[in-house]
Amino acid sequence: MSCADTKHQDDMTELESLYQMVNMLDYPLDDKNSEIYKKAVLVCQQQLANDGCAHLPNLIREDKIELIREQSEAVSHLANFHENKVNPYATEGNPELSESHPVNRFQTFSNGFVAKDLMPESMIIKKLYANTIFQSFIADCLGKDKIYEYADPIAGLVINVNPENTTLPWHYDTNEFIVSLMILRPEEGGEFQYSPGIRQPGDENYEEVQKILDGDLTKVKSLTLNTGDLQLFMGRFSIHRVAPAKGKRLSTLFGYAEKPGMIGRIKRTKDVYGRVTDAHIEAEKQAREDGLAG
Ligand SMILES: [Fe+2]
Repeated sequence: MSCADTKHQDDMTELESLYQMVNMLDYPLDDKNSEIYKKAVLVCQQQLANDGCAHLPNLIREDKIELIREQSEAVSHLANFHENKVNPYATEGNPELSESHPVNRFQTFSNGFVAKDLMPESMIIKKLYANTIFQSFIADCLGKDKIYEYADPIAGLVINVNPENTTLPWHYDTNEFIVSLMILRPEEGGEFQYSPGIRQPGDENYEEVQKILDGDLTKVKSLTLNTGDLQLFMGRFSIHRVAPAKGKRLSTLFGYAEKPGMIGRIKRTKDVYGRVTDAHIEAEKQAREDGLAG
């Protein structure tokens, strides 16, 4: 079999797999030249340009939503839970700044994350995360040539588990953008709340962040996701949280990067997953290029 044949076979497998997961009528990911594909990408790009958040309703096949929920529930007990107090930057506080300064605002962080290496390969979300046709669509939506899976051995693809009375407080993400999929909606609340582009490289805008931490939501937007909906979000520049919820909430976070080799920082990785690997220690030596606090 030639290399070309092997490549063709891989493509077919990925494509067949995609048809088993994605609502290809509304999102024909295998037909970039179709009007429907172009429209989906355009709408997504417009939403991202407007406020850094795009909503792709019903991206997952309706008849697979229940299976995704079952598969996710089956591993949700493997989530690492931690009662931690964290500031929005997942950094240490600064005693030279006031108690009310955002850097010194420590909030309860009590939801859990199931790490990528604890998920069986047979899980639909794991197949979708690694599917290069899906990745190419996400890259198109982001206006990027290519995106890469996280090189992080335990992060990159995670299930966020929010049992009753747990919180995912105000924070920024480590990576520039995140793709999330709603798996189980809580009975009440649990909306995704965010302040678009509140900080930029070189400008933390602490004043506006402090207002939000003080409860001023005038510059905060809210998005309610249904099961099977996908969301693209620029989380490195927009502070965000999951609002308090009644009942269990499950969502999947697909982390991709613009460059290969993306690995989380040690403190945040320990906070979220309760462990780190040698790869994290090595990566810590590399300084971030944008100079932001966390
Ligand atoms: Fe986040």
